[in-house]
This record gives sequence, structure tokens and C-alpha cells, in this order.
Amino acid sequence: MQRLSSSQLGSEFIDWPVYMRCALDLAVTVINTSPNPRVGCVIVKAGGIVGKGWHVSPGKDHAEIMALKSAGEDAKSSTVFVSLEPCSHIGRTGPCCDALIAAGISRLVIAGIDPNPEISGLGIKKIESAGIEVFYLEDSEAAARKINVGYFKRRETGLPYVRCKLAASIDGRTALSNGVSKWITSAEARADVQLYRAQSSAIITGVETVLSDNPSMNVRFDELNLTAEAKQQNLSLNSIQPLRVILDSNLRTPGTAKILHVDGGIRIYVAKKTIDQELVESKELPDNVELVFAEEESQRVNLHFVLESLALNCECNEVFVEAGPALSAAFLEAGLIDELIVYIAPKLLGSDAKPLFEIAGLQSMSESRNFAVKDLDKVGDDIRVCLIPQK
Ligand SMILES: NC(=O)c1ccc[n+]([C@@H]2O[C@H](COP(=O)([O-])OP(=O)(O)OC[C@H]3O[C@@H](n4cnc5c(N)ncnc54)[C@H](OP(=O)(O)O)[C@@H]3O)[C@@H](O)[C@H]2O)c1
Repeated sequence: MQRLSSSQLGSEFIDWPVYMRCALDLAVTVINTSPNPRVGCVIVKAGGIVGKGWHVSPGKDHAEIMALKSAGEDAKSSTVFVSLEPCSHIGRTGPCCDALIAAGISRLVIAGIDPNPEISGLGIKKIESAGIEVFYLEDSEAAARKINVGYFKRRETGLPYVRCKLAASIDGRTALSNGVSKWITSAEARADVQLYRAQSSAIITGVETVLSDNPSMNVRFDELNLTAEAKQQNLSLNSIQPLRVILDSNLRTPGTAKILHVDGGIRIYVAKKTIDQELVESKELPDNVELVFAEEESQRVNLHFVLESLALNCECNEVFVEAGPALSAAFLEAGLIDELIVYIAPKLLGSDAKPLFEIAGLQSMSESRNFAVKDLDKVGDDIRVCLIPQK
């Protein structure tokens, strides 16, 4: 495999970054392929694109297979651009390497190597051993990783990528003092949240939010603001609801809570020592609810354990924490938040309202929790700010 940066490309290959951008763009529009990565592919021959493909959802064609089907006979002697190394193993579908080799392609250009330790590099080796040249476009690597930030993090660290979202007033308040928090932000901001939910493998909340707001925490697909192209690329999306996760140390969630009675799987994490079978039975939980007991004795659910088990047992790539100030603070203080998303509504909720994070007692500026601003946008009448905690 040859590693190349754009500046090293000869005049013959000067348009390679453009084709790779097309493959990356196809991948980026895909909302959720969990547990698989988002992948895009374009097939180029005689200076033009003859095939395009993207992975839609698990069990469906991989990007390379869709692109080969659309290229047909034109795939022979073509150059194939894929945003991630093609797979070499038989998973839910057959290996893409074999299909690319059988189609008689001449060159493969990739933007990232699969971080899955079981298959990393094997796809490249297999393709090369069939006499096909493989190139790795180094300049595109950062974009390829960004599209699959959760997939890479899970494969490399055993934890999912964690986004924590809060809706706040300009005085940084997340609920009135009586617990009411519906609705702080505009309908547009809430529609924006639907997209984050849709791209997540799991949505995590705490039992106090369940008790005070009785939310469903599912994706309302009709509220997703998608372009015609994005709709076309996400035809299977409506059938995928992220797993919903409640952190509830003492199993206080009522069996009648709305969140338990909408489509999709539910996990309730409880702290082992406090729960007895009688309590579990009295809840009459629906069949789609799985109770998960923390491995070690503790008063409260261990957040690291939750994330580890979501990655290991549920193959969650990206998780979305939608909780109140206490649980959000616990995630933050444990260093488990990768990205904080705050929707700021232009209203005041008053100094007795609930804070953004329940963190108190700081005495010097050196103790402040610091963030880097990643993005800032106006959404409806609100502002969305994406922040990266500085560790
Ligand atoms: N503005 C917003 O974006 C927003 C979003 C959600 C909620 N809210 C509001 O926030 C308020 C509730 O906030 P909240 O933070 O108290 O509720 P929460 O989101 O339900 O989280 C707190 C609860 O999580 C449970 N928990 C389990 N493991 C934990 C751990 N390791 N660390 C900390 N907590 C753990 C605790 O109950 P156990 O000890 O019993 O497990 C705790 O009481 C409500 O008024 C709601 O309306 C606002």
C-alpha cells in the first residue's frame, strides 16, 4: 500500500482528492449504520464517476457492493475510492474485497484503515495479493475518522463516543425550581435534537428525568429536517430506534413510564446491592426492558461500567446523554463526555432555577471546568454551541 498526501499526487491523479471527497460526502449523509461504520464509495473510469454507493444499514449492501452494482461492467479496470478499508471477512454480508477483486478493478484508494483489530489491514493485504494497487490518501484520514468518530473510539478504546446535550436559558438554567423544563428551547432546536438522537446507538437518561418529565426519548422521524438527497440515502432509517438507557440505581422507574412503552430496546442499569427480586416483579416491566446489574457493589450505577457495557454488549458507537444537571455533572466529572452540546434559549429562568451542571464549591479560577468551542450556530431562535471538554 502506498501512503500519499495530495501534494505527492502526479498530474494524472490530481483529481483523486475530489473523488475521495465524493465518497466521504456519501458517507457523511448516512445518519445511522450502527454498529457498522458509515462508508461511501465512488467508482471512477475514464475521468468520470461510473458508480456510487453507501452503506445503508447493517445487513444491507456495503458501500462497495452498492457502487459495484451501479457501475456494472464499467467497474472493470476502474479506480475505486472508498472512505474506509474494504472488509475482508464474512459478517452479515460477504467480504467486499472478494467482490472488488472479482469485478476486476485496477486500483483502490482509501481514506482510512478499519480500526477493528480483527480485520484491520487484512482487506488491504487481500486486495494487494490479487495484484490490485492500493493507495492511502493521508489528507483524507481526518475526515474519514470524523464521520465515524464513535466507531473508531469503540474499536480503539472499548468505549463509545459520548455527546451530552442540555437545553438552557441564557442564565444557564435547565429547569424551573419546581422541575418543569418543557420547553426551554424552540421547536427548531428540538428538531435538531431529533437528528442527534437518530445518529446515536443509544440515548442515556437518569431516573429523575424519567420521573419528572416522563419523556419517550425516541426518534420522531417525521420531525427530522432532511434534504431530498439525505432522505434518499436513509431509506431504512425509520425502522431503527436507538436503544434507550435509564440509569436508575434503586429501580424507581415506574412500569408505566412512557419511555418503556415505545418501539425499541430499553436497558435499565441498577446498582446491584439495593435491588431484590420482589421489587423487580412488582414493576411489571414490559418484555423489551433489560435490567442490567452493576458488577460491583455500589450505591450508584458506575458510569464507566455503563459505557463499557454499551460498547461491548450492545456495540454502541455513539451515545447521546439527555439528562438533567446531576447526571450530566457526574458524566462530566468522570471525564466521560467527548462533546457537550448546549442549546441556549434567549430567556431567563431565574436564579432559583436548576443549573446547567450540579457542580459547586469551586474556590479558585484554576478549578473551573474548561471547554474549547467546536461549533456555534443559530437554530431557530436559539443558539447551539458544541464544546469539547478540556481534560
Ligand atoms: N434542560 C435540559 O436539557 C434537561 C434535560 C433533562 C432533564 N432536565 C431536568 O433535569 C431535572 C432532573 O435532573 P437530574 O440530573 O436530577 O436528573 P437525571 O437526569 O435523572 O439524573 C439524576 C439521577 O440519575 C441517577 N443516577 C444513576 N447513576 C448515577 C451516577 N453515577 N451519578 C449521578 N446520578 C446517577 C440518580 O438517581 P439514583 O441514585 O436513584 O440512581 C440521579 O438522581 C428535571 O427537572 C428535568 O426536567 C433538563
